[in-house]
This record gives sequence, structure tokens and C-alpha cells, in this order.
Amino acid sequence: MKKTTAAITAVGGYVPDFVLSNKVLETMVDTNDEWITTRTGIKERRILKEENQGTSFLAIKAAQDLLNKSGVDPKEIDFVLLATATPDMPVAATAAFVASEIGATNAFSYDLQAACSSFLYGMSTASSYIESGRYKKVLLIGADKMSSIIDYTDRTTCIIFGDGAGAVLFEPNEEGLGFQDEYLRTDGIGRQFLKIEAGGSILPASEETIKNKQHYVYQDGKSVFKFAVSNMADVSGLIMDRNGLTHEDVSWLVPHQANKRIIDATANRMGLDKDKVMMNIHRYGNTTSATLPLLLHDYEKQLKKGDNIIFAAFGGGFTWGSIYLKWAYNS
Ligand code: UT7
Repeated sequence: MKKTTAAITAVGGYVPDFVLSNKVLETMVDTNDEWITTRTGIKERRILKEENQGTSFLAIKAAQDLLNKSGVDPKEIDFVLLATATPDMPVAATAAFVASEIGATNAFSYDLQAACSSFLYGMSTASSYIESGRYKKVLLIGADKMSSIIDYTDRTTCIIFGDGAGAVLFEPNEEGLGFQDEYLRTDGIGRQFLKIEAGGSILPASEETIKNKQHYVYQDGKSVFKFAVSNMADVSGLIMDRNGLTHEDVSWLVPHQANKRIIDATANRMGLDKDKVMMNIHRYGNTTSATLPLLLHDYEKQLKKGDNIIFAAFGGGFTWGSIYLKWAYNS
């Protein structure tokens, strides 16, 4: 019997209009365009300025873009999975609100949080539901309003992150296209290097935690960088070897957009030319759960049916991994 695979059949994306450039950051903290560009590859990022709007606003826009482009009836969606590190509220699944707002009234939904690996892990979850035959239409959204957890007086983090969202639809495929293999890993050593210390069950919010700025992202950039470079490159090489892929067989690398130097190191390890590496970090910075689907959104027209695509991500926890997928359609 032929195996049913899980293919991406539609893509959507959204970034807010407001552009925060390196030049403007120069007026906010002690930094400069040259440092940011050479150390990270980032030129500008988008910030959600609408009042009283959170991650759901971004997620809904990306999902609506997908629905408009594909013509899919939201009532046919079985499951909405929202990958995010910045839910609207600590309790009340943001995904439930998003599903209702887009008209996915027959779906169940929940949030998945694995820091910058949230979307990659979400791809694993979404495709498993399809491969098992349990559901036919799974909408996976990656969305983050990173500006809600960034201290804009801390130059080590405020230059990196931006807001955005992307969405993909997974459906069954009988031609062997779509999800092929995954290599996912975690290591709890990471939580000392990249975290929001307060607001969780260990250190609930208090006057003290607010005074100490413990509700913002803290990152020991150098340590995270070292782990990210070696681990993202390792898993990407490994998934190629395990599937007998050479650099010629790989059509695209879709890497998490945290730092251009990490992306270059991963591509080098895989032996890939620059023109096979998707990149939009210069325009959006690190949008956490949204980087991978926003890349698909930006490059969708260049993708061809049968393309071999390697996804790779690394994030807080630590969490990281690589996924091998065959693209299922021509735009
Ligand atoms: O997405 C989740 C996973 N996250 C990542 O993968 C991020 C990994 N880390 C990184 O991308 C990089 O470590 C950063 C971009 C965060 C920092 O780059 P770096 O090359 O590791 O710089 P550094 O932290 O070693 O700092 C070098 C110098 C320091 O000055 P001294 O001590 O050498 O005098 C910093 O104080 O650069 C200084 N610095 C800055 N200078 C200008 C730090 N931030 C800035 C800044 N502008 N924004």
C-alpha cells in the first residue's frame, strides 16, 4: 500500500507596516549600522504598532493571506496549530481565538512553544496528523510579536528581533511529496543562556521582577551563537547523509533567521551555493516562530514541484533540528 505523505499545499505571510531601521536604532541605543550589519546581517525589522493587538493579529493576517490565495474553505480545516513564543496571554490558547477569527469553526487548536524552533517542531506535529490519516487539512501558523518582550534599552537584544507571521497548510499527498524525514533535538543546558526569567511558575510577576527587567528576553549571545553554529550545521549535514543527498540534490536550505553568520556556516557545511539559501534576515530580523514560513512566503514563486528542501532551526531551551521535505506544487 502506498504511504500517505504530508505536503505543504499553500503558504501565507504577513509583516506589520512599521519599519525599525538600524539608523533609527542608532538613536535609541549605543549601536551603529555597520556593527549590526556585519555581526548579524540585519538592516531593518518590522514592529506591530497597533494598540491592544498581540500575536493573534499577526497570525490571523498570515492565515487570511493563505486562505485568500488558495481559496480553501476555512470550515474544512481540521486543526490549527499556532507556533509562538509570545501568546496573546499566558493562559487561554491564542490558537483558539485565531481559529475562530479566520472561520475555522470545525477545527480544534492549540499553541506550541519551543522558542525559535517552534515552527520546525510544529511541522513535525502537523505532518504526523496527516500521515496517520487522522486529519486532512492542518493549518500551521508561526507568529511572534517579539517587540512585546524586548527591552529597547538593551542593545544586545533589541537590534535582533522583529514581529511577523507565516502560515502553511498541510494536506495528504499520494505522490511521495512533502515531509520526508526529521532530526529533532533538545538540551536543557540552554535555558541559562536564553530566557525570560520572570512571569512563569518559578518567578511570578512582582514589583521586584518588573524593576529588575526580568520580563524581557535575556540572551548570552556568544554562548548561544556557538551552540547554534555547530548544532544547526550538524543536523543539516546529518539529514542529508541519512537520505543520501549531496549538495547537488538539495534545491533549497530554509534556515532560521537568527544571524547571517550562523546561516552561512550551515550552508558551508552542506556545501551549498548562496543562491540555494533562502534569506530575508536583512528585512525582518529574527521573527522567532515566523522565520521559516516567511521565507516560504517570500520565495514561493521560485519553488518547483519535487524540489528537495532542508529546513533547519535553533532556539532557546536549547531546541534545534532539521527537516527534509519535497515541495509539492508549482506556483
Ligand atoms: O534565535 C535564537 C537563537 N539565537 C541566536 O542564534 C543568536 C546567537 N547569537 C548571535 O547572533 C550573536 O552572538 C549576537 C548578534 C547576539 C552578538 O554578536 P557577537 O559577535 O557574538 O558579539 P558579542 O556579544 O561577542 O559582543 C562583541 C562586542 C562587545 O563589546 P566588547 O566587550 O568586545 O567591548 C559588545 O558589548 O560588541 C558589543 N556589542 C555591540 N556593539 C554595538 C553588543 N551589542 C552591540 C550592539 N552594537 N548592538
